[in-house]
This record gives sequence, C-alpha cells and structure tokens, in this order.
Amino acid sequence: MSRLMINGGKPLKGDLSVHGAKNAVLPILAASILCDDGVSVIHNCPDLRDVATTIEILKYLGVSVTRTGHTLTVDARSRLGNHIPKHLMQQLRSSIIFMGAIVARKHKAKISLPGGCELGPRPIDLHIKALQDLGCKIKEKKNCILIRSKKMKCGTIHLAFPSVGATENAMLTSCLSPGITIVENAAKEPEIIDLACFLNAMGACICGAGTNRIEIHGVSHLHAADYTIMPDRIAAITYLCCAATTGGDITLHNVISEHMEPALSLLAQCGCLVEAKEHTIHIAAPSCLTMPPAIVTEPYPGFPTDAQSLFLALLTTANGIGHIRENIFSGRFKVATELRKMGAAIALNNNEATITGVPGLHGATVKATDLRGGAALVIAALGAQGTTEIENLHYIDRGYDNLTTNLTRLGADIHRI
Ligand code: UD1
Repeated sequence: MSRLMINGGKPLKGDLSVHGAKNAVLPILAASILCDDGVSVIHNCPDLRDVATTIEILKYLGVSVTRTGHTLTVDARSRLGNHIPKHLMQQLRSSIIFMGAIVARKHKAKISLPGGCELGPRPIDLHIKALQDLGCKIKEKKNCILIRSKKMKCGTIHLAFPSVGATENAMLTSCLSPGITIVENAAKEPEIIDLACFLNAMGACICGAGTNRIEIHGVSHLHAADYTIMPDRIAAITYLCCAATTGGDITLHNVISEHMEPALSLLAQCGCLVEAKEHTIHIAAPSCLTMPPAIVTEPYPGFPTDAQSLFLALLTTANGIGHIRENIFSGRFKVATELRKMGAAIALNNNEATITGVPGLHGATVKATDLRGGAALVIAALGAQGTTEIENLHYIDRGYDNLTTNLTRLGADIHRI
C-alpha cells in the first residue's frame, strides 16, 4: 500500500501548469463513442485513475483507445457492446454517464447500478427521469438497469435539481434524436460547456450550455473530432490552497480564472494576494491567514462542493472562527475526523462545520476518505509542523496527475513510499 510522507512547513514557490479537467474528460470520453466513422483525438487528458477506469470501460465496449502523453486517440468504429458490468460500474460513480451515450448509439443498454459512494447517497433518479422524458423505457432487474429507446421523442426535460451528470446524460441521449430537446434547470458548470463544445465539434447542434436552458437540435450523424480538454479548476484550487497554507508564492498556468471566482475571492479574503489573469493566477500568501466569511457550497457559479474539503483544511489554521455549510453531498465532512488528528478544531452539526482556527497543525498518520478529502489532508500536511503520513492514496490518484512531482518542484518535502 503506497503512502505519502510529508514534512510540512516549507513555503511553496515557483510555477506550475495545471492538468486537464477530470470532470470534463470523463463525459467527453463517453461522448466519443457517438462517432462510428472516424478516430477522435483528445488532447490535455490527465493521467488519472478515473480516466484509466473510463478507458477500461471503453475497451470493454469494444472501443480502441491509445494514449500518447496527454493525448488519447479513440476509435469507436467497430461494432460496440451495450453492456457495462458491475466490476467496472462500481469503480467509478460517473460511469452512469455511459448510459446516455450507449443509448444514443445502440438504442439499448444494460448497465449495473453505479457503486455506493464515499460521499453519501448519490441517487440516479434525475438521470432516469431525463431518459424517460426522451421516450426511453427503463427497467431495473437484479441490480441492473435495462434501457430501450425504440421510439425516442424530443420535448422538454425539467430537472428538479441542476445535476451535472443528469444534464450530461440528457445532452448525450438527445443529440442524435430527431427534433429539438430542451433541458430546463440544467447545470451550468464549465464542464457542461466543454462537453457541448466537444459534441458540437463532432457535428452536434447544442446551444445554451453554461446557462440553465440548453437546446439540443438532433442531428442524424456525428463525425470524429480533434479537441483539447479544459483545465481542471479543482486541481488549480488545490494547488492555490497548498500555496496559501504554507505562506507560499506560486503562479499557475493553463487555468481559466473565470471558472474559479468564488474560491479566488475567498483566498483574497483570507489575506492572500491573488492576481488573476485570463490564463494565469499568481498567489502570494501571508504567514497567517484571516478567517473568511461563511462558505456555502452551491451549484456553479456558486462555491463548488469539490473545493469544500480543501478550504476546510486551509481554514483550520486561519485566525478566527469560520463556518462552512455543505449543500450538495452529505458525506463531505468525513475528513474532519482525520484533520482533528492533526490538531484541528472542527465541530460538526449536520451539514455545517464550525472551525476554530488554531495556531498550527502537527504531523499525524491519517487516511484519505475520498478524493478531495485526500487532497485536503495534503494541504493540511504541507502547512503542519512535523511529518504526516497519508494512507489510502488510491482516492487521491483518482483526480491528481503527478501530484507528488508537482509539489516537489514547488519546494515541498513530500515522498510517496
Ligand atoms: C459531478 C462531479 C462532482 C461534483 C458534482 C457537483 C463529475 C464526474 N463529477 O458529480 O465532482 O462534486 O458534479 O458539482 O463530473 N442527485 C440526485 N439525483 C440524481 C443525480 C444527482 O438527487 O439523479 C443529487 C446528488 O445526490 C447531489 C446533487 O444532486 O446531492 C448533485 O449531484 P450531481 O450534480 O449529479 O453530481 P455528479 O454529476 O454526480
């Protein structure tokens, strides 16, 4: 079992280029199966465990995928399967996104239910309802979902909540159906725009992505595309928090600052100098952070739930008393137990955390509890005095390409053993 050993207290300094967005590449890879007559080339694909699992799913379906550096070549020309078995579905919650892509290409799909998740219950009712609204017949049988789409129809899908995955499934399912489909109360996350841009580059006709009303004009055929994945805003925020907790001074490249406004504004309110240009962000942190106003997680453009654990770790040593309310995923505060082992003072009450800033954290042996919770422990360990040992690295590997090397280059004392 790999572990990370981090000797904290070293200010991070230097420049770093941020990798492509995990949450954009996963649905885009699923979308690549919609082309049956060419080879798509997708650039800026990070080398992550979730991407590797998605490639395994593609290969299981009969798609040929090759990686050269950060470029993936996807050839879905052969006769594809329409079934994803349990052992693959359970590795990756976002495998549910294949439901829409397989149905659009094969008109029927059989997929196992996605596995239990470390972030609390993550139902798929909105995905199912969106596909039913498009005319799909859906049955659940022995932990499998069977979907048939003999008579697809267009119309309006109203999402009861702006779910990212359900919005993506609705776009994938409808882009090859005749007529106009409208998704109301759609998620507005930048990754939705990236998926729409990729589908449009394949010949789809989708407008309104990034707003709460997306219009999909069905086309009869999609062709191969050459596409570059957007930068990972959550990885970028992670590195900014690493710099902030160590009193560091770093510049990030290959970012889209506009995607990170709530987090950048909070870092400035913590006392950091934040200079955001269109594609670079410079942060210079003070030796002691100020507690910012209360943080509330919300769908985009609000403060992202994926960055909540990162700020929870960061604020443990800020001066004052802080509050975080988690509105999206109930299991996001699991990391608080691990942060307490390092000396953090965090009180939990349902979906609210109260953080009483302490002068400093100390090293301890801790376990990653989920992907961003694991990254939060890295942030805490970089700022702590002494050595922290982080276990359960498979969670962190799901979302960060070259984390140890990148942090070492910025001056951290971090080793994977
Ligand atoms: C995506 C991101 C994840 C991020 C989340 C919210 C990917 C691969 N993952 O996850 O990193 O944290 O958006 O920004 O892109 N819900 C239902 N029923 C459904 C679907 C969702 O009740 O059918 C609820 C969920 O339980 C959750 C909320 O809606 O409380 C948001 O979920 P959703 O936006 O769907 O997140 P994901 O697409 O799973």
